[in-house]
Amino acid sequence: MGKKLTVYERIETLLDKGSFTEVDKYVKHRCTDFGMENKRVAGDGVVCGYGKIDGRTVYVYAFDFSVLGGSLSAANSRKIAKMQDMALKCGAPIIGLNDSGGARIQEGVESLTGFAEIFRRNVMSSGVIPQISAIMGPCAGGSCYSPALTDFILMVEGESQMFITGPNVIRQTTNEECDKETLGGAKVHAMTSGVCSLVCRDDEECLMTIRELLGFIPSNNMEDAPVHPATDDVDRVCHELDNVVPANPNIPYNIKDIIEPICDQQYFFEIQPDFAKNIVVGFGRMAGRSVGFVANQPNYLAGAIDIDASDKAARFIQFCDSFNIPIVAIEDVPGFLPGIQQEHAGIIRHGAKIVYAFAEATVPKITLITRKAYGGAYIVMNSKQIGADINLAYPSAEIAVMGAKGAVSILYRKEEPENIPARIKEYEDKFANPYFAAELGYIDDIIQPADTRRAIIRALDCCRNKSVSNPPKKHGNMPM
Ligand code: HXC
Repeated sequence: MGKKLTVYERIETLLDKGSFTEVDKYVKHRCTDFGMENKRVAGDGVVCGYGKIDGRTVYVYAFDFSVLGGSLSAANSRKIAKMQDMALKCGAPIIGLNDSGGARIQEGVESLTGFAEIFRRNVMSSGVIPQISAIMGPCAGGSCYSPALTDFILMVEGESQMFITGPNVIRQTTNEECDKETLGGAKVHAMTSGVCSLVCRDDEECLMTIRELLGFIPSNNMEDAPVHPATDDVDRVCHELDNVVPANPNIPYNIKDIIEPICDQQYFFEIQPDFAKNIVVGFGRMAGRSVGFVANQPNYLAGAIDIDASDKAARFIQFCDSFNIPIVAIEDVPGFLPGIQQEHAGIIRHGAKIVYAFAEATVPKITLITRKAYGGAYIVMNSKQIGADINLAYPSAEIAVMGAKGAVSILYRKEEPENIPARIKEYEDKFANPYFAAELGYIDDIIQPADTRRAIIRALDCCRNKSVSNPPKKHGNMPM
């Protein structure tokens, strides 16, 4: 594990060298209760300002835990709100480096309302400018909810925690024993709660990862993401894809073995890699332009969609759509995950989020079916009728209501056992291929795996100037 940096070192590391300009460094709190008149520090424990990342303007605020536990005062909430207002009106990303015990207890309702000011601005900025939160120390209460309202949360392993109420309060109220790390450490939020987008080994890796992440994203919703010079051949044939999908539909494979080779420089930047591993989301570049990938992962739960996978995918799709990043869906999905636990926990309302997010997205939307595309999961994974622009399939694609065995067990319940294999074969011949769907125009083309990169780049290119808009409304009502 690398060094824990001071607040100014963090900002210097995050931004292009020498580009930081500090704002409001003379601000002090005005609290005089609990001996606070003797604890007035210039800046009041949060450093604010603006600078550049790869030459693009960003706004930054960073908590200094060494000043009263990085607690939020009314004064430093006004500093942060000022940065949020500037970032919003100037169309620039805002980055929060959080290391804070939440609302400053000595100030009571004054500091509490400071969080309300920040939250409201987080919400107003959502979908307009990218908001990125790093958690670089213990963060409690409001110092978790503000990041939760932003687009991405990065945590530092072993150093950062997030919880609404800390171990002491939990002990007193529920008698449960935990420490800060088991309650809200990076691993917990990356693997179990899904709060964390990316875990980093140390401060430096965290700050470098923010820089990299921003490279895939435009500065605001009126721009396109930065275009990188396309040094990788757009027509590159990917023979390494020839044998990725096993002939036996029951054998899993790693969907990233399809995503990585088709990206420029074969580089895929995964988001939430340890949460809901049955769906893979992240950014890549194709022909130099940012693309958001949403892919079922046959290696985990056979790629079936469950509650967590639905939430993860829907949020990522919404992000891409908000910021003009085209979406490529790669599909190999046997269906929604069956089970009482899933049904009772609300797979209906959670699964509905993927439909909602794909259907609502107006960015270019491309789908590639590599193997299974069964049932409702076929529909929701960016099918033609949900609104995809170009739908492609490998010859190994199977597009049906369900697998052949399951279908035959329902259609031919009373059939003699010796006739069952022939019935299965009949169903397979009809649906265990993409040709019937292609005949109907639901699949635009059937491609060889080696041609995947070229075909997707062409599909994206033909949609470059896509312009559609949804009916005017105040906002929709996404299921939650
Ligand atoms: C004032 C605070 C503080 C706070 C920490 N400190 N949190 N001072 N207001 N909210 C001070 C401590 O008194 C201590 O001061 C110094 O910061 C370091 O804190 P430690 O407890 O020694 O550090 P550590 O053991 O690392 O624990 C960090 C911590 C813990 C887990 C964050 O301090 C903690 O539980 N703090 C309170 C968290 C909390 O309940 N905050 C309010 C949430 S309500 P000295 O002088 O001893 O060095 C909220 C409102 C919004 O935020 C809610 C929206 C949903």
